[in-house]
Amino acid sequence: MAIDQKLLERDPDRVARMFTEISPRYDLLNRVLSFGQDGVWRRKAVRMARPAGAHRILDLATGTGDLAFEFSRAEGFDGEILGLDFSEEMVCRARRKAAARHLSARIQFRTGDALDIPEPDGWFDIVSIGFGLRNFLDPERGLLEAHRVLAPGGRLVVVDFFRKRENPMMRLYLDQALPRIGRWISRSPSAYHYLRESKKGFLSPDEFVSLLHSVGFQPVVLESLSFGVAHSIVGTKPASRPGPPTAA
Ligand SMILES: C[S@@+](CC[C@H](N)C(=O)[O-])C[C@H]1O[C@@H](n2cnc3c(N)ncnc32)[C@H](O)[C@@H]1O
Repeated sequence: MAIDQKLLERDPDRVARMFTEISPRYDLLNRVLSFGQDGVWRRKAVRMARPAGAHRILDLATGTGDLAFEFSRAEGFDGEILGLDFSEEMVCRARRKAAARHLSARIQFRTGDALDIPEPDGWFDIVSIGFGLRNFLDPERGLLEAHRVLAPGGRLVVVDFFRKRENPMMRLYLDQALPRIGRWISRSPSAYHYLRESKKGFLSPDEFVSLLHSVGFQPVVLESLSFGVAHSIVGTKPASRPGPPTAA
């Protein structure tokens, strides 16, 4: 699978430090840099995951919790949500937001590694990853872990920026404007340069669909968002097949 070697050389401590550094202005940056579209993309991902009737949802790389909060508003879903992130500072911010919204009883935020999920097999009905997979040291391992903790018939939803051919306007925005605005608001010299590079070095949407098939998700449904700026992809962990009939 064509995962850029640079992704595999990524240092998780460095990634966690970078998100800790930008955490105070992370939400604001999302709104500004996506022209307010990030909420629309998360809502679409939630709808595609069909949360009505689910009991437990795991939001990996939850950051400040916006995808988890979006699930908590979904019609027909009144179950529990666990948000996991390896940046303590992002988790603290997510907890504070949950408390302010009186959601602490329903959404728990904990520190933890998406590549080694501290939960039993088959525990969740839905696993989500919003704009996080690109940052994983080993995305394939993250998907295998998501598959392990999903119940048969459970769904994985990923919303992210994938590698794709960009039109000249988009390239200009991503190469010139985004890193400058990102640096100005976040005060981190490198974080939004990293965002650009991580998108370039990531999988294309079609490669990602193949990777989901190869780790055992079937079927996989892909939707392009805002004319292909982002994509939302849902893969289902097949329900276990009934065993062969036993002789009476
Ligand atoms: C771009 S933020 C996404 C946050 C949130 N999901 C959203 O929709 O805004 C990426 C997050 O992934 C987290 N992260 C990256 N690799 C991780 C890993 N292996 N385990 C847990 N969290 C991870 C980072 O700490 C960061 O908070």
